[in-house]
Amino acid sequence: MIPVNAPLLAKNTLRYVSDCVRTGWISSAGSYIGKFEASFAEYLGVEHAVTTTSGTTALHLALAAMAIGRGDEVVIPAQTMIAVPYAVLYTGAKPVILDVDRETYNLDPDRVAEFLKRGCRYDKRAKALLNRKTGRRVRALLPVHLYGHPCAMDELLSLAGEFGLPVIEDAAEAHGAIYRPDGRKAPRFCGAMGTIGCFSFYANKIITTGEGGMIVTDDDALAERARRLKDLAHAPGRRFLHTELAFNYRMTNVQAAIGLAQVEEIDRFIALKRRMAEAYGRRLGRIPGLSLPVEKSWARSVYWMYAVVVEDEFGMSRDDLMARLKERGVDTRTFFIPVHRQPVFAKDSDYAEADCPVSDDLGRRGFYLPSGLALKPAQIRAVAQAVRDIRADC
Ligand SMILES: Cc1ncc(COP(=O)(O)O)c(C=O)c1O
Repeated sequence: MIPVNAPLLAKNTLRYVSDCVRTGWISSAGSYIGKFEASFAEYLGVEHAVTTTSGTTALHLALAAMAIGRGDEVVIPAQTMIAVPYAVLYTGAKPVILDVDRETYNLDPDRVAEFLKRGCRYDKRAKALLNRKTGRRVRALLPVHLYGHPCAMDELLSLAGEFGLPVIEDAAEAHGAIYRPDGRKAPRFCGAMGTIGCFSFYANKIITTGEGGMIVTDDDALAERARRLKDLAHAPGRRFLHTELAFNYRMTNVQAAIGLAQVEEIDRFIALKRRMAEAYGRRLGRIPGLSLPVEKSWARSVYWMYAVVVEDEFGMSRDDLMARLKERGVDTRTFFIPVHRQPVFAKDSDYAEADCPVSDDLGRRGFYLPSGLALKPAQIRAVAQAVRDIRADC
C-alpha cells in the first residue's frame, strides 16, 4: 500500500536525541527546547516561539493567553480539523462557523465581512463587538491555512483591523508557506502575520517532533503569558504557589531535539512537497472532473497534502474513486467533515444553523492523495496512473 503519509527524519536527529539521552535531559528542562524555539522563531522572522505538546494545545494556549473564555466567540472556518473548534470550546467560548472559498478551501473573507458587518454590532457600554443573534462578544478571527495554502490574509487582517479583533493563525498544516500580497509588501510566513500563530508537529506535518506544537508571536506580553500558562502558572518568584488555573503543555527536550534537526532541513522538505505537487499536477492536469489544488499568484503553498476535488464530470463519486484506489494499493483520506456536521455537536443549535454550502460540498467531494515526504517519484507516477486508469474505465 502506498501510504498517505510517511515522515522523513532529518540528518541530525539521532545525534541530538542521543545527546538528550546521554546527558539525562529528557524532560522539558533541557537546552534543545530553547534552541528549537529560537531556530523556528528565526526561520519565521518572529520575536517569540513557545513550544507545546501538540497543535491542539497550541491553539488552546493561544486562546487562553488572550483571555478568551465564557461569553466569547471566535470565528473559524467550517472546513477544518476538529482541534480548531475543540480548542475554542476548551476555553468556554463558542466558535462561529463560516464558509470557505471553493478554490483555496480557506476561510472566505466575504463571509467574514458579511458576518462582522451585518451579523454583529458594537456595544459602546460594553466596549465590545457583539453577535446580534447570540449576544456573545466576538473576540478573534481564527483562519486556518488548510493543506498548506495560505489564507487571503490581506482581506482578513484588514477586516480584523477594522473591527479591532486579533487574528490567531492556525498554521498547523502550513510550515514555511508564504503569503506575498503584492509588490509593495514584504512576503510573510503563514503563522507570522497575525497576533499569534499556531503550529502542529505531529508526525505527518512538514516538520515534526512526533507529537508537539508551537505558538509564535511578536507580542512580548502574550509570549510571557503563554509561557506561564503552559507550565502550571507558578507565581513569579514563588514556585508551587498558584493563583490561577493553568496547564502542563510542556514539550520534552527529546521532542525538541528532533524538531531542531527538522528546522535545519525545512527548506529541503518544502522543496520535496513542491516537487511532488508539480509531478502530480503534470500527470493529473487534464483529467476531466478532477479539480487539482490551486496556488494563487500571491501564495507559496507547501502542499502539505495534495488535496483534490471530484466533480460530477468525473463520472464516479469521491468515495467510489477512493475505494478503487485502495484496491490498487493507494491509500487516501477524505477532506474534513465540516465542523457543523460533526455528530459531537449535533445537539447544539448554534452549529445546526451554520450555512456553509461550500464546506459541505468539499466535505463530500474532496480527498487527498499520498503526499508524505518519504514518497518516491515512482510512487507518485503509480498513484497518478491508477487515477487515470480508473477514470478511463468509468
Ligand atoms: C488545521 C489543524 N489544526 C490543528 C491541528 C491539531 O494538531 P495536533 O494533531 O498536533 O494536535 C491539526 C492536526 O492535524 C490541523 O490539521
